[in-house]
Amino acid sequence: MRKHIVAGNWKMNLTFTEADELLDDLMSELEKVELPRDTQVIVCPPFPYLEMASDYANDSYFMVGAQNVSDQEKGAYTGEVSAAMLESCEIDYCIVGHSERRAYYGETDALVAAKVNQLLAHGLKPIVCVGEVLEEREAGRQLDVVKKQVEGGLFHLSAEQMQQVIIAYEPVWAIGTGKTATPDQAQEIHAHIRSLLAAKYGQAVADEVSILYGGSCKPSNAKELFAKPDIDGGLIGGASLKAEDFMGIVQSF
Ligand code: 13P
Repeated sequence: MRKHIVAGNWKMNLTFTEADELLDDLMSELEKVELPRDTQVIVCPPFPYLEMASDYANDSYFMVGAQNVSDQEKGAYTGEVSAAMLESCEIDYCIVGHSERRAYYGETDALVAAKVNQLLAHGLKPIVCVGEVLEEREAGRQLDVVKKQVEGGLFHLSAEQMQQVIIAYEPVWAIGTGKTATPDQAQEIHAHIRSLLAAKYGQAVADEVSILYGGSCKPSNAKELFAKPDIDGGLIGGASLKAEDFMGIVQSF
């Protein structure tokens, strides 16, 4: 059965010393609790801190992910980081297609698909983000928008590849705004995504894919969200920057 996952997306936050402190706090907090075997904790720091995070992860319970990857294999792409590099640094996960990358760096579904291919070719698990903006929700178009993103970013994959993918539904209007989707609003989209997967790959594959919710998720609302049948955990921004808050969410299953 699919895993329960809480992943922290640190975004472009924290200095080296602050990152070190947060990882140290997180390790101490994780030592104190006994998590169910099907619960996976992932930390996604900025690139320069991946190695430090991996060192901590070796002695702790969490796994490490990157926040972005190149769509290209290697070569003259200044400033880019390849999936092969992440693989060689033993990074297991990578966020792809976050709404901030779609909005500020022009990432399209085709680019997301190419990045997903790179990650899978190098044995990393992509955490693929989808979600509608406020105007799209107000126009009642959220189901169509998410369908297009899921199809465009993922439906070229084989069923076997699809089972390596984690999907994160992040309504853009809920990211960093303090405005969380209600558990019912989130569940509707998660069930929609799972039904799209079931129609394309069959119910057994759809049941294996973890679908996370992201957008102002915090200890006070995580329990209600995670209680929904198709919400398998969270992709956490702001609340992942404090070990106590992040752990509060981790313990919400
Ligand atoms: P917040 O939790 O800060 O709303 O961010 C969510 C997010 O974008 C995680 O990827």
